[in-house]
Order: sequence, then structure tokens, then C-alpha cells
Amino acid sequence: MQARILITPRSLTSGPHPQIDRLRQAGFEVVTSTPNALPGEAELISLLPGCVGWLAGIEPVSAKVIAAARDLKIVSRNGTGIDNLPLDALRQRGIAVATAGGANAAGVAELAVALIFSALRHIPAADAGIKQGEWPRRLGRELRGRKVAVIGCGAIGGEVARMLNALGAQVLAYDPLRPDLRLTGDRFRWADLPAALAEADIISFHCPLQKDGKPILDAAAIAALRPGVIIVNTARSALVDEAALLAGLESGRIECYATDVFEQEPPRDLTIARHPNVIATSHIGGFTDESVERATSVAIDHLLAALQPAAKAHAG
Ligand SMILES: NC(=O)c1ccc[n+]([C@@H]2O[C@H](COP(=O)([O-])OP(=O)(O)OC[C@H]3O[C@@H](n4cnc5c(N)ncnc54)[C@H](O)[C@@H]3O)[C@@H](O)[C@H]2O)c1
Repeated sequence: MQARILITPRSLTSGPHPQIDRLRQAGFEVVTSTPNALPGEAELISLLPGCVGWLAGIEPVSAKVIAAARDLKIVSRNGTGIDNLPLDALRQRGIAVATAGGANAAGVAELAVALIFSALRHIPAADAGIKQGEWPRRLGRELRGRKVAVIGCGAIGGEVARMLNALGAQVLAYDPLRPDLRLTGDRFRWADLPAALAEADIISFHCPLQKDGKPILDAAAIAALRPGVIIVNTARSALVDEAALLAGLESGRIECYATDVFEQEPPRDLTIARHPNVIATSHIGGFTDESVERATSVAIDHLLAALQPAAKAHAG
């Protein structure tokens, strides 16, 4: 019997991807979850037994799923985030976890900058209004000279900081590790979190969830923001407290919340997405030709490196 690999990222189940053939050529049988949807617990429990490898997306994975995955040797993510995985359960079973760090950084960074411009120039509202037969002309603001807090300066945040800096914005960077971003000059400086949030005209999130799962932007943090602030979230929805966000949007303290991420995807509760001062995209940050290609290639490299001896043993 051929060793099996499960593929679940929506970018790979929505249509055939040439990179997947590398797994077949290496002797593996490939199984995929329901196209274009995040698989739930029941589907994962039915698909994983017999699979030695799993090319996983951002679907929430429970310890129960890992218990059912009796043959699994490696989970290879096609991205950086592993907050969807039960790491203790994986560690206890000795199942390796690999990530494709930085592979989709350019795609996500470009979306974050696109969302900033969309918010500054009210592009979605202008488009929607014209399509309704109106001619909306809302005064915009320019990016040049504005203070942008970049929260988390790893692969994606670093790209965002460099792009914004090149576009003439003042970058206030916060990251506990302060990695070298190759940025100098008077349009870049490191700040601590309260100062970065308090000074910023625009805040863009590029960090994982905090260890305790608590939001960085709760009611108290939102109360200390500059009135009219724009918040961009291409990282994780739980970084921002929903109730406090809605209150901030209603009071006008937050002019716009532009988000690529939702607590549940697609969101069943549309309160945030439908708010007139919210710009919503459907977790498309890393969903570009180039980022999907790079992230898939790296994720498959990790699977093959870990499993190729298994394929040969099964074949023999
Ligand atoms: N929208 C999308 O399609 C998409 C795609 C890929 C990644 N992401 C998300 O983007 C985020 C960043 O990804 P990355 O590839 O740049 O990760 P990364 O690991 O390269 O960088 C994360 C950085 O955040 C810093 N950090 C950790 N905790 C922090 C905190 N509390 N405050 C500020 N900084 C903190 C780390 O020191 C690190 O430098 C992650 O949340 C990831 O899940 C979204």
C-alpha cells in the first residue's frame, strides 16, 4: 500500500496544483479535504488515519484529531502560524511540525499596504457607491509623513516596515526581539508597545497571538489610541477585542478597521464585516500566485525530507 499524505490548505484544495505532483512522483498517494473549505474535526478524523504526512493550512486542530492520526509523522504548514495546532499533543506523539516561514511574506505585506491605502483613500466605499449609481467623493489622507506602528517585525512586518519607509511614512516598530530590519534614518525608530500605539495614525499587526491569548487591543488600549486611527489586521483576529473594536468604530476613535482575518472563516456573524467603517478581505494575504508557489514548495520540501524513506519502504 502507498504511504498517504493529506492536503488541506484551501489554496491547494480549490484546484490542482503542479507542486503536488512532486509527492506523487515520490511514491505517495495524495488525499485532499473538501475543496475550498476549512476541514472540521470530523472530516480530519476520517481522513487522517493511514496518512504519514499532512500538508496543513490554518484549520483549527484538536488533540482528538491528533489521537486519531495514528500513522502521522509530520505536519507541514504552508505558512508561519502554528496557533491552530495542539502542540503538546503533537510533541507527546513525537510528530514533527514544520513551517514555511517567510514564504508568503511579500504577499501578506503587499496586502497590508493595499489595505492601508484603501482605508486612507476610502477606495472600497467609492467603488461600492459608483456601482449603486452614486458619485461618492470622501476626502482622503496621504500616507507620506503619517506615523505607522508596525506591531511584530518578523518576515511580514519587516517587509511592511521597509515598504512603508520607502513610501515616505514614519515607521514606529514594536517587536520584543527587535530583529535587524536594515532600516536607518529619521523615518524609522523602535518604540515600546504603549508608545507605538499611542502615537500612531495607522497600526498594522504582524505578530502571533500573545501567549495568554489576550488581545493586544482591548478597551483600555483602544481608549489610548489617537482619534481617527486606522487599524490593519492581516495577522490574527484575536489580537483585537471585538466588542471594544465595535465600540471604537461607533465612537469614531477608530476611523477604519481593515481586516483579512476573522475569528471564524468565513464569518457567520457579519457584525464586524458589515460595519461601514470596516474593510474586509477573505484571508487572502498569502493567496497570490507567487506566495502560494513558494509556500507550497517549501512545505513539500519539508514533507519529502522527513518522509521519503517511508515512501521507499512502503513501495518495497
Ligand atoms: N493573512 C494571511 O494570509 C497571513 C499569512 C501568513 C501569516 N499571517 C500571520 O502574520 C503574522 C506574522 O507572520 P510572520 O510570517 O511575519 O511571522 P514571524 O514569526 O516571521 O514574525 C513574527 C514576529 O512577531 C514578533 N512577536 C511575537 N510576539 C509579539 C508581540 N506580542 N508583539 C509584537 N511582536 C511580537 C516576533 O518576535 C517575530 O519577530 C502571524 O500572525 C501569521 O499568522 C497571515
